Amino acid sequence: MTARTLALHLGGWRGSGPAYEALAEAIRLLCLDNRVAPRTVLPAERELAAALGVSRTTVAATYRSLRDTGHIESLRGSGSVTLPLRRSGPQRNDPEVDAAAIDLQQASPAAWPGLPGVLAEVAQGAAALVSRSGYDVIGSPELREAIAARYRRRGIPTRADEVLVTTGAQSAIHLIAAVLLGRADRVLVETPTYPHAAEAFRRAGARLVGVPVGVDDGWDVDRAEQAFARTLPTLAYLMPDFQNPTGRTMTAREADAFARAADAAGTVLVLDETTADLDIDRQGPAAVFPDGVHAIRIGSLGKTVWGGLRVGWVRADRDVVRRLASGRPVHDLGTPEFEQAVATALLPRIDEIARQRGELLRAGRDAVVPALRRHFPEWQVPSAAGGVSLWVGIGEPLSGPLVMNARARGLFLSAGSRFSVDGGHDRRLRVPFTAAPAELERAVELLRDAWDDLHAGRRVGTPDDLAAVV
Ligand SMILES: Cc1ncc(COP(=O)(O)O)c(C=O)c1O
Repeated sequence: MTARTLALHLGGWRGSGPAYEALAEAIRLLCLDNRVAPRTVLPAERELAAALGVSRTTVAATYRSLRDTGHIESLRGSGSVTLPLRRSGPQRNDPEVDAAAIDLQQASPAAWPGLPGVLAEVAQGAAALVSRSGYDVIGSPELREAIAARYRRRGIPTRADEVLVTTGAQSAIHLIAAVLLGRADRVLVETPTYPHAAEAFRRAGARLVGVPVGVDDGWDVDRAEQAFARTLPTLAYLMPDFQNPTGRTMTAREADAFARAADAAGTVLVLDETTADLDIDRQGPAAVFPDGVHAIRIGSLGKTVWGGLRVGWVRADRDVVRRLASGRPVHDLGTPEFEQAVATALLPRIDEIARQRGELLRAGRDAVVPALRRHFPEWQVPSAAGGVSLWVGIGEPLSGPLVMNARARGLFLSAGSRFSVDGGHDRRLRVPFTAAPAELERAVELLRDAWDDLHAGRRVGTPDDLAAVV
């Protein structure tokens, strides 16, 4: 792995403690998340020091710490190599551990209960489905029309040829990044943001410009206006409705400010509406951008129906749709026909499905918010009117170590820094409410134990912990 790639993965790694420990901890988290695979050769100390703008002594101390905790080994002549994880705590991909583990790393609700019935119905028409031959990178006419009709119902005039069907929203984001971005282009993103989008933009060679969005005060419009004017970003990637992870929805004033600043800077807004239908008890209207705003919209059935149903889409001007379609084959050759037929059957029922989804999310939220407030009176536990998660303030910059300790107890969560663009969020933890209430309540108990461990000086992955295991 090159120093540049590792630096990109690390994002904002600096914490409040010594730099070498913060860096070591950030690399441990990458190993735990499998974003750095076992047997990866890490960059030479000098190169990593240069890429991160730290001293070589800091990197040397980092590697020493990682060696002490058994995360890497350094061999003369072959550099430092990551080792398969052999910690005291449970590991993912071990069937026994997976069965017992509580996974709140992905904020992904269970499938909509009506889905198996729709799959069975669509399967009845399998013969007609397979009658077509060849590849189709744009999407079936029926599904494109069903998606367009949904936009029209929202008051956004849309024709079927302004829609491109993708394999989920992630694939849409990746395609947009690959086709519309050039090296060193700027992309304005919220911080915190959805990390796989940030990664897709970085991989396309873009530089990210973060604009804060807070649970309490929403989007920092002043910072956004300055960032647009100063950096003239090519794209601005936003989640205007039930932002992941904060759960915030843009007010009309905020949407208006973004639309105006983007227009003045010649920036294309990319509005990811994957979470927009996840309404529990919306306090105000959905985010509405002014008419005529030049935006690419991304949608998906991944959260509303099921993450395993890999159907998403892009709604954009015809020219943009054509450009995306012609850039797609290098990426994939279309969306499976069966899933498209399922999506076509589901879309007319999407309001009913979203209502059911809202009930499921309400049960999760109403279990986890009081449990967190009870077990962690010292934390700031916000609520959310929709979306998939709470953006919890834990008061101390301990999100990374807390997540590691929680893993040791079989609870998998993502640290706040995972959602950061330019560093920070170590005082935050994303707590999804997509699981069943009993599971969420158990998760909060495990989290409390992990937090107590931390304050008793027990840290998984530190030399002390390793000594205790050995
Ligand atoms: C904001 C956002 N965009 C996109 C995605 C990816 O969605 P899909 O499953 O449709 O690829 C997610 C999933 O977590 C998300 O939260």
